[in-house]
Amino acid sequence: MKRNFFSVTSVVVAVCAILFSGCCCDCDKPYKIVDNQIVFAEPARAEGQQSMLGFAAEPIPVVRVGFVGLGMRGPGAIKRFVNIEGAEISALCDLLPENVEKTQKLLESLGHARVAEDATYTGEEGWKELCQRDDIDLVYLVTPWELHTPMAVYAMECGKHVAVEVPAAMSVAECWQLVDTSERTRRHCMMLENCIYDHFEFTTLNMAQQGLFGEILHVEGAYIHNLEEFWHEYQGNWRLKYNQQHRGDVYATHGLGPICQLLNIHRGDRMTRLVSMDTKSVCGAALAKESLGVDSFANGDHTCTLIATENGKTISLQHNVCTPRPYNRLYQLSGTKGFANKYPVKGFLFAEAATASGNPDHENLSAHKFVPEDVRDALLEKYRHPIQIELMERAKKVGGHGGMDFIMDSRLIYCLQNGLPLDQDVYDAAEWSCIGELSAASIENGSMPVLVPDFTRGDWNKIDGYRHAMKQ
Ligand SMILES: NC(=O)c1ccc[n+]([C@@H]2O[C@H](COP(=O)([O-])OP(=O)(O)OC[C@H]3O[C@@H](n4cnc5c(N)ncnc54)[C@H](O)[C@@H]3O)[C@@H](O)[C@H]2O)c1
Repeated sequence: MKRNFFSVTSVVVAVCAILFSGCCCDCDKPYKIVDNQIVFAEPARAEGQQSMLGFAAEPIPVVRVGFVGLGMRGPGAIKRFVNIEGAEISALCDLLPENVEKTQKLLESLGHARVAEDATYTGEEGWKELCQRDDIDLVYLVTPWELHTPMAVYAMECGKHVAVEVPAAMSVAECWQLVDTSERTRRHCMMLENCIYDHFEFTTLNMAQQGLFGEILHVEGAYIHNLEEFWHEYQGNWRLKYNQQHRGDVYATHGLGPICQLLNIHRGDRMTRLVSMDTKSVCGAALAKESLGVDSFANGDHTCTLIATENGKTISLQHNVCTPRPYNRLYQLSGTKGFANKYPVKGFLFAEAATASGNPDHENLSAHKFVPEDVRDALLEKYRHPIQIELMERAKKVGGHGGMDFIMDSRLIYCLQNGLPLDQDVYDAAEWSCIGELSAASIENGSMPVLVPDFTRGDWNKIDGYRHAMKQ
């Protein structure tokens, strides 16, 4: 026994010495500090795994979907799927039986048949049985954050494609689990980042792809949403508890997703490093005291992150769910020929028009201004993406954040039906989700730079620009 202990100990010591030579190491942490930068591990691709870049599965004529998580957000997905041709609502699951029943009643009220009783599941582990069914193609996860990756991994292991709410993963290790499982099982894992489908973002992406803004150099995104009225609605108070325990930008994907598409992240560029800072927690701390009876609250009321890319671009990201402010995802781009901004004012500016006003006048602070509103609106009409045009009317009717949720689900089903690569791949899910832990690591180390892992393992430059796949 004793000899074994010493031999294991000496192996561990030797491995640590090799891994962390020349660096500062806190073995409790999932990263090491090398030359004043925080470095998370980038494990080599295991044998039997293949890149999922550009992956297309066999076409599925009717996509049979099992839904897990029927709280506030889940039933909205059911309402949308009732209106999507080629998709079937095949199974339902929630921890709480009353949420399954509420969803059955919703189906009835929409004139849709109830899901068969033997395809409904409840309790802590009912979702596993749902994943094991052999009459389901896609598992659609709308559960609390910390269940996303364990559920997604299990579903892929059961041979199912996965759609998972934001963020798909809560740590870098979970991001790798999603990537590795998807690569090994050859199953899609799409994060349900809906904001990339919002009208302004989708149209502006189309304008950017057609060169209207020149080379895009800097982008900004945010999730600024005072959740005061929602905190207590989350089942078991899971969201407040998570924020109470975790520092950093824990909900980065709504702000980051659309701006990563503008920069062609892992389609020609990649995020390389970030630094983060946060304010102290005042509103969050007061809420935690009142709701949870605790004196500490890890998440700063406002968190700022700056990210650099391989091609010399910058990204600015903010997170604030606590202080009284208007809703804001920023969505801003600065290019060599133009500028776009969504919140709080929608506008476009183009270099030629902005400087065509005659002699330079330093006193005229409005010389460089947005194009007039009617021009902006005409541009938003002219550059509407064909996908938006096709789905617009139904999206408006069905709703879901102004229609973007319907476009997201419709695209997911369209791509699965036609055997096309999905709009968001597993690397998007990992890149947009890893910001939570990376930003926390930076903040906890005095805003030290953190290297952003390359989840494509060197393939970030193999695809030339972001494009939506379409049937030929
Ligand atoms: N993309 C968006 O715009 C958007 C908007 C709102 C919420 N969301 C995301 O949707 C997810 C759910 O949020 P919500 O607001 O509906 O929260 P919620 O608390 O209202 O719903 C979560 C549901 O999951 C169920 N659940 C918990 N444990 C389970 C288990 N073991 N098995 C099955 N079900 C279980 C709960 O009973 C609850 O009904 C979150 O990830 C959130 O970030 C996204």
